[in-house]
Amino acid sequence: MAYQRMRDFLAALERRGKLRRIARRVDPSWEPACLAKWMFQALPDEERFGLFFENVAGSDIPLVTAALGASTETYAAALQAAPDEINAKWVRALLNPVAPRVVEDAPCQEVIVQGDGARLGRLPIPVWTPGKDIGPYLTTIVVTRDARSGVQNLGVYRTRVLDDRRLAINLNPGRHGHLCCRSYWEQGKPAPIAWVIAAEPEVHLATVANLPYGSDEIRVAGGLKGEPVALARAKTVDLLVPANAEIVIEAEIRPGEHEQEGPFGEFAGFMGPIGQRPMARVTAITHRKDPIFYGYTSQMPPSESTVIQSLTNAGLILKMLRYDLGEPNVRDVYIDLTFGGLLAHCVVALAPQYPGHGKRVGRMVADVTPVKRVTVVDADVDIRDPVHLDWALSSLFNPARDTVVIDDVFYPLNMDPSTRTAEDRAVPGGKLVIDATQKADAGPFSLPPREMMTRALDLWREVGLPEFRIPKRARLRIDRS
Ligand SMILES: Cc1cc2nc3c(=O)[nH]c(=O)nc-3n(C[C@H](O)[C@H](O)[C@H](O)COP(=O)(O)O)c2cc1C
Repeated sequence: MAYQRMRDFLAALERRGKLRRIARRVDPSWEPACLAKWMFQALPDEERFGLFFENVAGSDIPLVTAALGASTETYAAALQAAPDEINAKWVRALLNPVAPRVVEDAPCQEVIVQGDGARLGRLPIPVWTPGKDIGPYLTTIVVTRDARSGVQNLGVYRTRVLDDRRLAINLNPGRHGHLCCRSYWEQGKPAPIAWVIAAEPEVHLATVANLPYGSDEIRVAGGLKGEPVALARAKTVDLLVPANAEIVIEAEIRPGEHEQEGPFGEFAGFMGPIGQRPMARVTAITHRKDPIFYGYTSQMPPSESTVIQSLTNAGLILKMLRYDLGEPNVRDVYIDLTFGGLLAHCVVALAPQYPGHGKRVGRMVADVTPVKRVTVVDADVDIRDPVHLDWALSSLFNPARDTVVIDDVFYPLNMDPSTRTAEDRAVPGGKLVIDATQKADAGPFSLPPREMMTRALDLWREVGLPEFRIPKRARLRIDRS
């Protein structure tokens, strides 16, 4: 059964030792983010954990970060799956979306605060790159709606807290949240918007899926859950919000109202740009009686933001290649967790069927996704293992023959330093496709036969050598030896 509430997932994570509570009072202007930063900068994926700050200065609400995206393990746990089942779970959800259901009694509306009482200052909103960000930011689900079709959109758009009642949101033109708001502004109307904090895990993970405009991510969240997501009517704006969330901030953005947004530490590893962005006025804050606040750890990669975007969008690309683009011989897809969904490195495992197949599949991924680098390898390479991947590149890839460079690529986000000149002028970006599949029979692997290697494992133990876990790359190689 999927978790119905974020707090149920947090409890499960704590039971498996993957959530750490910090009882000491922390200052949200720097301490939570710096601790999270150390965790991502210093600990390997398998040792990381979510952080639960019980006592945040200035607020009576606890703050949680990195629980969903500390690591592959916590992400998988959020989906009640094993780490190697994540892609399969995504493919199933995308093939079987489930429409949400609307409920009348919503836990996220146990307390409703409107008017002057709806103050953002009550919430433990952190500064994510202390000393460099302009101030506290919301990093969570944003709900918007297309005025014409009525279809809602979920996305994460970093949001600056301007004061108790106003926010400036990084809605880039062309992004789906912006298209939704524009559909109201074009009619001279304020656009409804809501920030949803700590909904059930599937809603959070579906939010960062790069789906086409007009596909409501909530249906995919339902597919991940295997049941409809419960939605409630927001109290002051015309939107449906996840009923089981901890906190919802309702607001509207009037046409033409902007405020400064940024600088903000960004996923590319540098401070994101400053710009004039749409300004939202809070109309209500609704929450559970004893709410928990959640914010994604962003900034220098790896971070929670890179982990959730990579793992989510790898599943999307796998589904697209196999089911929409007619490439059933694509066996697996991985996006490097150290960079994130956009501009990242995508690795595809393929059983090539004809000469040039690897290049063709690589080009497809480059053309229809935002990723900057695509590497295609054979299906018997562990695409999550950098050692195995590097072997394929060194051994099977002929740079002069197996590389495709795609130029004049437009990146909608102004965050890739490689697309700026020394004079700070924006230039088009590029993409790289590498086909590192085997093009000709290179003969047998230079390892003893499988049967001998298996017997040698007994010998290893017999002579008292230290125990080890067999890496997947070794299994794959020995199986072919
Ligand atoms: C912590 C975090 C912050 C993000 N901030 C932004 C942002 O400010 N602007 C943006 O366009 N995308 C941002 N993203 C990426 C989008 O949320 C993601 O690409 C999502 O799929 C966008 O939804 P859309 O395709 O419906 O527009 C962020 C993601 C995370 C996890």
